[in-house]
Amino acid sequence: MSKETVTIIDNRTGKEVELPIVQATQGPSVVDIGKFYQETGLFTYDPGFLSTASCDSAITFIDGDNGILQYGGYSIESLAEQSNFLEVSYLMLNGELPEKEQQEKFSDIITHHSMLNESLRNFFHSFYHDAHPMAIMVGVVGSLSAFYHDSTDINNPRHREIAAHRMIAKMPTIAAGCYKHSIGEPLVYPDNNLSYTGNLLKMMFSVPCEEYQVDPVAEKALDLIFILHVDHEQNASTSTVRLAGSSRANPFACIASGIAALWGPAHGGANEAVLSVLEEIGDVSQIPKYIARAKDKTDSFRLMGFGHRVYKNYDPRAKIIRTMCHEVLEKLGHRHDPLFELALRLEEIALKDEYFIKRKLYPNVDFYSGLIYKALGIPTNMFTVMFAIARTVGWVAHWTEMISAEGQRIGRPRQLYVGPKQRDYISIDKR
Ligand code: CMC
Repeated sequence: MSKETVTIIDNRTGKEVELPIVQATQGPSVVDIGKFYQETGLFTYDPGFLSTASCDSAITFIDGDNGILQYGGYSIESLAEQSNFLEVSYLMLNGELPEKEQQEKFSDIITHHSMLNESLRNFFHSFYHDAHPMAIMVGVVGSLSAFYHDSTDINNPRHREIAAHRMIAKMPTIAAGCYKHSIGEPLVYPDNNLSYTGNLLKMMFSVPCEEYQVDPVAEKALDLIFILHVDHEQNASTSTVRLAGSSRANPFACIASGIAALWGPAHGGANEAVLSVLEEIGDVSQIPKYIARAKDKTDSFRLMGFGHRVYKNYDPRAKIIRTMCHEVLEKLGHRHDPLFELALRLEEIALKDEYFIKRKLYPNVDFYSGLIYKALGIPTNMFTVMFAIARTVGWVAHWTEMISAEGQRIGRPRQLYVGPKQRDYISIDKR
């Protein structure tokens, strides 16, 4: 079978450049432009990566136009309905769903690696008392290689596996530690009798002087949110992890770089920003004013939790989590709280508004996850930390895939230089 190609004609010289097409198993194939510069002396230019694939990957598939998200070929709908966070984590790391024994072994490993090195626990107390939990998390995760250097040989597959397991297992303990430190309460040790999310809830909300019962509604809701947030292929934070990892930095440092990238309000910080916007709007009567501001091009205000770079019709995760959001509000008795009424009214109005319809700005996953977190009593500044716990699985899976790939090279984007041409240095007294 002849290979498909694309031919580009350089109109300056008339030279034809034939570029191979590399076939995808689903979704758009790509034009391999690896030799483009050599052939034409030109770089390609695509800020924001609107048309550029940065790598090949077998982990997650997204079809933004049709609202499709699959992990390892399984639809997000089927995983959300039938699977659980740890099983999905196994799938992400291994490419296949586990058999019963494999699942039990994996759960056991993750459960039994949740404790932190005791010196690392002390590290939390060195942060300023009102530090943002994301700032603490970036710092603590970045420091992990100092505590676990026995799993930082990136050329050793077993080291890579141990580092992956450690990251997934310890993230809830770190997240809860960030929270506990910020409210001046003692850090709570993990409890191996609890589920992944039950343990997280206990480490966040229990105190040593009282009994704590995990609320099954909260436990289930968090498990679902975590499944939905596990991975989203080459988003900003995952691309950051890959780029950092391409220099062969240790995995803990790479995940810390991903956490930093996730923090921004256009990415993982959006769930926190959703609540800030809702609080700013304050009352249902103010919605029209804020919708008008969101449409005003001279105003930088955006309705956080609406819109997505990839999903231009709807976000499949938002569809799943919307149902859970309504269920949680109902079950926990928050349905008629003013803030939630405001959010649901905003959702209703924006879905009918011409501006939002025309630009395909639908509520995204963060709109609803922010509301669920709020209903569960999780403070706003912890929302992105919660996202980071789940996304660690995706980051680790992508990092492992990249490092294990044959012929892996350092990522080194090119640029279009638009600065001054060469000029002579003028000494300071003559400027
Ligand atoms: N409120 C008001 N207008 C908006 C919004 C919004 N939230 N989002 C996009 N627009 C408008 C934008 O002004 C532009 O209008 P026009 O065509 O008239 O100039 C048009 O919609 C396209 O926007 P864009 O910025 O070119 O779209 P993008 O694909 O580059 O950005 C986005 C996607 C998610 C960054 C953006 O929609 C946004 O800032 N949303 C709010 C932040 C948010 O909720 N982020 C979480 C995304 S989901 C979590 C994740 O996967 O990381």
